[in-house]
Amino acid sequence: MFSQSLKHASSTPSLNLPTRQLGLSQRPFRSVSDFRKAKRDGRKISMLSVYDAVFARLAVEAGVNTLLVGDSVAMALYGFESTIHATVEMIASHVGAVRRACPGAFLVADLPFGSYRRGLKAAMKAVEAMARAGASAVKLEGVTGNEKIISHIIESGIPVMGHIGLTPQSVLALGGYKVQGGTEEEAARLIEDAKELEDLGAFSLVLECVSRSLGSRISSNLSIPVIGIGAGAEVDGQVLVASDLLGLSLGRSPRFVRRYLDGAALVSKAFEEFCRQVGEAQYPSEAESYD
Ligand code: KIV
Repeated sequence: MFSQSLKHASSTPSLNLPTRQLGLSQRPFRSVSDFRKAKRDGRKISMLSVYDAVFARLAVEAGVNTLLVGDSVAMALYGFESTIHATVEMIASHVGAVRRACPGAFLVADLPFGSYRRGLKAAMKAVEAMARAGASAVKLEGVTGNEKIISHIIESGIPVMGHIGLTPQSVLALGGYKVQGGTEEEAARLIEDAKELEDLGAFSLVLECVSRSLGSRISSNLSIPVIGIGAGAEVDGQVLVASDLLGLSLGRSPRFVRRYLDGAALVSKAFEEFCRQVGEAQYPSEAESYD
């Protein structure tokens, strides 16, 4: 399927997929008002973290509402141990690839570690790079210490998505990838952080790795949508990293990941088959050769 699509990638951007009728909940979002409307109407929001043109196009054509180029790209594609290694250039380059494949999609770009903690000027430079590459909005982790920059980005005309709970860029301070908000004090702090993001003007937020009940409390306390990842079902939407749900990630997946495909097994079978057929001179055939 992919080889057929990629054959045409440079000349036409089509993936030759059959046209399907998409339901109301599967329409691509175009602007921040679609997020508000989805929450108001009680429609769950689907978001996928994708990094390349093919997966982005497949996600949009499947009806995923909104796309994210997450800093998880540093781990998923570049093999780093944490998202701390993502850079502005790395993410912007993937934003460009996704934007070229999906011109109308609502596309959120992560601001990587360090890019928004070195003053307003440095932060705005990162935001500009994402916007020029094609981002519709930026996402950044945490609230305390980021209030000014969040307001400044929003006042500059770029929508901001928050990210609280488990914030992977702070994995060293958090002491690992753990469920957050475990004590009543920590839970209250996250509820306050979420409210503050809403008050600052964020159009939505990602809530990562908290209990179901805390996810539900935070979502019901806000008028902006809460997109969960490991935050239970009673939030306003769900986000996953595409390569995780496709079973194409190296290493162990967290408990909240549902694998919709055993991608690693399928890919490895195809590679083995190619290798065997080349070895046995079964590939290429006459039809695959030029006269
Ligand atoms: O980096 C990423 O892909 C993310 C999502 C998992 C929310 O932040």
